[in-house]
Amino acid sequence: MKYLAVLGRQPEISIAELEMTNFCTEIDKLGGTQKLAIKLKKKPLDFLAELPEGKITLGVSDYSKGASKKTATVEALKLKKILVRHGRSVRVVENKEAVLSTATSLHNGLSGKNERKIELIKVNNDWYKVIGVQDIDAYAKRDQARPARDAKVGMLPPKLAQILINLCGVLPENARILDPFCGTGVVLQEALLMGYRAYGTDIDERMVEYTNKNLNWLFLERATLAPVCLRQFASQGASVTGLAAQAPRWSQCSRNNQFQVSVGDATSFQWDQPIDAVACEGYLGKPMSQIPVDIKLKEQKQECKAIILGFLKNLVGQIKPSTPVVVACPAWLRESGEYERLDIIDEIENMGYNVNNKSREGLLYHRENQVVARDIIILRKK
Ligand SMILES: C[S@@+](CC[C@H](N)C(=O)[O-])C[C@H]1O[C@@H](n2cnc3c(N)ncnc32)[C@H](O)[C@@H]1O
Repeated sequence: MKYLAVLGRQPEISIAELEMTNFCTEIDKLGGTQKLAIKLKKKPLDFLAELPEGKITLGVSDYSKGASKKTATVEALKLKKILVRHGRSVRVVENKEAVLSTATSLHNGLSGKNERKIELIKVNNDWYKVIGVQDIDAYAKRDQARPARDAKVGMLPPKLAQILINLCGVLPENARILDPFCGTGVVLQEALLMGYRAYGTDIDERMVEYTNKNLNWLFLERATLAPVCLRQFASQGASVTGLAAQAPRWSQCSRNNQFQVSVGDATSFQWDQPIDAVACEGYLGKPMSQIPVDIKLKEQKQECKAIILGFLKNLVGQIKPSTPVVVACPAWLRESGEYERLDIIDEIENMGYNVNNKSREGLLYHRENQVVARDIIILRKK
């Protein structure tokens, strides 16, 4: 895959043009991508005119500089007018803004699965056809319907868990991913859904119970929870029909080490092998709803730094060279509006890791005004 250019920017949205061999359309595994589209080789009208017979549903998102609801609507109606003149029936999806929201695209079926329900993206003079839309409903369900949740340990969004796993790079099939701060098990859940084996530890016995409960629920409910491409972990080599048939298979998966969870302090625990990658949200300190005063921040930073560095020091002797380690660390909102990160990079390098994203630009994950953000660091053992 070759990265070509960032095509446009609006608050919250940036578009990247990629050159891809071996094209993968599984947006459901990407986590951070709202829409995937391919460049049209033809003019948009020629492309639409060649669609199979029947009513066309058309949405247009205009990502060009200076685009508005009006520019997108004008383009959509222009296309509709000509198509109607040529005898086609067309419904245009209404634009509330220049760009159709993910929810609008998804709920109007514009996710590339139906050949006559089309979303076209315009970026200046270039046109693209959407081939995948983030399934926000599936992500929300996987987040909110889990039986064991705990607001105090933070709620890692499933899409961020996927991002952490993807930042580990290309992993062998059936790789075993360790989360040494597994909490309620979101990283492990997403690892299993992406076809990997999952291994979790946490210092808190209650969290280990929560993870077990959530992973068993995941197995039972996966058919309603996840898009098809995310169910491979339990269906490998077996035709599964109904819940009764699925239950023994899950225990077998568990017995075969598809997932494993135990209590352990990440700063001293001896993990079982193999460990092909480590993806985790480390200890983030106390939950906060207000910007902390300096003294409180200092105390929190010390506590988090000791746990995260203690964990990395303990881990380095237990993994093979080149093993990827992706950790979401805390960063705290300050009055200036900036986030203050942990100053840990030099110490991590001295332990025997290469740090991929030293500048750490762009890898801060937070909602607007969220006090504790996640600062993602990407490491590989030297
Ligand atoms: C931010 S939470 C992780 C939440 C998790 N990503 C989830 O999906 O729920 C951090 C977790 O680290 C655990 N923890 C704190 N100190 C630890 C240590 N020294 N070793 C292992 N786990 C620890 C806490 O019990 C907590 O579950």
